[in-house]
Parts: sequence; structure tokens; C-alpha cells
Amino acid sequence: MGKNSFKPEDFCRKNAEIGVAVFGNINIDTLILVEELPQKGLESNAMSFLVSGGGSAANTAVALARLGVPSIMLGAVGEDLEAEIVIKELEHENVITKYIQRVRGERTGRVWVLIDKSGERTMIAYRGANIKVKKEFNEALKHSLWLHIGGGLLETALEVAAVAKKKGIPVSYDPGSAAYLAPQRLLSKIIEKPDLVILNEFEYRSLVKRDIRLSQLFIVKKGAKGSEAVVDGEKIHAEGFKVRVKDSTGAGDAFNAAFIAALLSNFELKEALIFANAAAAIKVSRLGARSSPSLEEVVEFLEKEGYGKLAMKVSEHYCSKR
Ligand SMILES: Nc1ncnc2c1ncn2[C@@H]1O[C@H](COP(=O)(O)OP(=O)(O)OP(=O)(O)O)[C@@H](O)[C@H]1O
Ligand SMILES: [Mg+2]
Repeated sequence: MGKNSFKPEDFCRKNAEIGVAVFGNINIDTLILVEELPQKGLESNAMSFLVSGGGSAANTAVALARLGVPSIMLGAVGEDLEAEIVIKELEHENVITKYIQRVRGERTGRVWVLIDKSGERTMIAYRGANIKVKKEFNEALKHSLWLHIGGGLLETALEVAAVAKKKGIPVSYDPGSAAYLAPQRLLSKIIEKPDLVILNEFEYRSLVKRDIRLSQLFIVKKGAKGSEAVVDGEKIHAEGFKVRVKDSTGAGDAFNAAFIAALLSNFELKEALIFANAAAAIKVSRLGARSSPSLEEVVEFLEKEGYGKLAMKVSEHYCSKR
């Protein structure tokens, strides 16, 4: 996969200057818990609410950092108070934020999520600065050993991916809703670029239906059923872990981060799937999109679930434990 330039020692340095670049959206999420959704023109009471950083790519960057993998955020925020909040939060999580673009006169992306009694989510999204992101991340890519595209403006993602490929940096891509919303031509173009595509089942079926060809290696995330790697048409499956589900928001992002971290640590595909399923299962058992686990928590979980050997391998081979 062309990851020869990666040396595990690179991860182990404190304040490492090299890491996984994550391109895509940076948002502020407001989760509002309501009994009932308000009817048009009427009001309903909120029982509680939670404001936190969000955006699939930003969540993935945080999840990587928690696993001990330096991550570099590539995205855009506005010129408002929210921008300061999201950047502070990312810094607090040790994500490298210096390449984040600030868009003049624009607002930071925001998502409002109404959750009713049934747990169903109704969302309003303001994409703001996210759709003004420019391709100028060449400097950041000099410090990147991997590029993950976790959504974001497709036209720009395509250009950033092209620069990465030219530099020989491996690229992974999780299209999210673009798998069914993006125009066919644009999506086909971007799907061709990465070395690895990560999808959920619905997105996978949409791509098949739209006759869009996938990369040689792709991953299908299957919710409670776990995940599957498909290499040259051959399937490798890893069962999901049984956990008490609290909130599955961001499960996919936690999975992506852990899967990339495992590949960078030279794990076999099957081991990488198990590791990523474990990280995502822990996330699912907690509230919020930014509740992915630390490396130590994944190791402990794997041991508890009878994967002692893998837990040991993680402890031995994974650089942040050195
Ligand atoms: N109920 C669950 N129990 C255990 N593990 C789960 C559960 N739901 C999700 N996971 C884990 O999280 C991974 C990602 O979840 P999912 O397949 O729903 O992807 P996704 O749709 O991309 O997620 P997201 O909604 O965050 O974008 C799964 O592959 C699995 O490892
Ligand atoms: Mg997803």
C-alpha cells in the first residue's frame, strides 16, 4: 500500500510533526433531547441539550489522537466564536490544528440534532465554512504519512487526494452520504483515487446500484454485525462485539480511526477489523460523537472479550506504548 515511508518510531515522539491528515468537515453539534418533535409553527420543550464539537472528519481526527496516532486536521472554520471553540477542543485532544483554514466573513459549520423519545434523529445542518475549504494543504501533506478523507467538499477532496497520491501518501476515503447524494461523475472520480474505501452497508449498496467501481481493498461496516474487508473480491469478516448500545453517533468515525491506526501498525486485515470493531463498540456504549476510546481502553476491552493475544500484540507493536 505504499506505506513504506512510515516508521513506527515516528508515532512515538512526543509532539510528533508527522501524522495522519484528515480532510473534511468541522462542526459544532447541538444535540437537543425532546419528548416530541414540534409541529410546524408550534413549540416543544427541550428536556436537555449538549453542545460539542462534531463533523465526521474532526471526530476521526480526535479518535486517532486518542489512540496515540498524531492527527492533522485539514478543513475550514469561520470567523466567529464557534471557530475558537472547535479549535480549542481539537487542541485539547492533541489534534494538530495549524493547517485549519479560517474563512473570512463565514460562519463555522453547525448541526442541530433533535432526538425524540424513540431515539430518532432529525437534523438541520449549516455547512458554512466547510464548503469554502480550499485545496491549499500542500504544507500539511509534507507532514503526513496517510490521508483520510472523511467527507467534506468533494471537489476540494479530489484535489487534496491527487496531491497526496503524487507524493506517494496512501489515501483512505469514507464517502458517508456522498455515496448516495453526490453526482455520479464526481463520485466515480474520487472513488478511483484512494487505496482504501470505507463504507457502511447502505452506502455500499448505493454504490453497487449506481455501478460505481470500488478500490481493490474496501471495508463494509455492518453495525452490530461487525465489519468486512473485501480484497480483490475475497471477503474477510469480523463479528461485532456485544455491547449495551447508548448512542451510535460517530461509531463509523471511531472505526475508521482505529482501522487506519491498525494498518499503520502493520496488523493483518482480520486483526485490524477486530481492533476497529472493538474501538467502535466502546464508542457505541457511550453518549456523544466524541466519546471514542483511548488505546488503553481498547486493549482492556480486547482482553476482557477474550482477545488477549491481539491485546498483547497491540501493547507490543503499537508505538504509543513503547
Ligand atoms: N450496535 C452495535 N454493537 C456493536 N458494535 C457496533 C454497533 N453499531 C456499530 N458498531 C460498530 O461500529 C462500526 C460502525 O458502525 P456502522 O456500521 O453503523 O457505520 P456508520 O454507519 O458509518 O456509522 P456512523 O453512523 O457513525 O457514520 C461497526 O462496523 C461496528 O464495528
Ligand atoms: Mg458513516
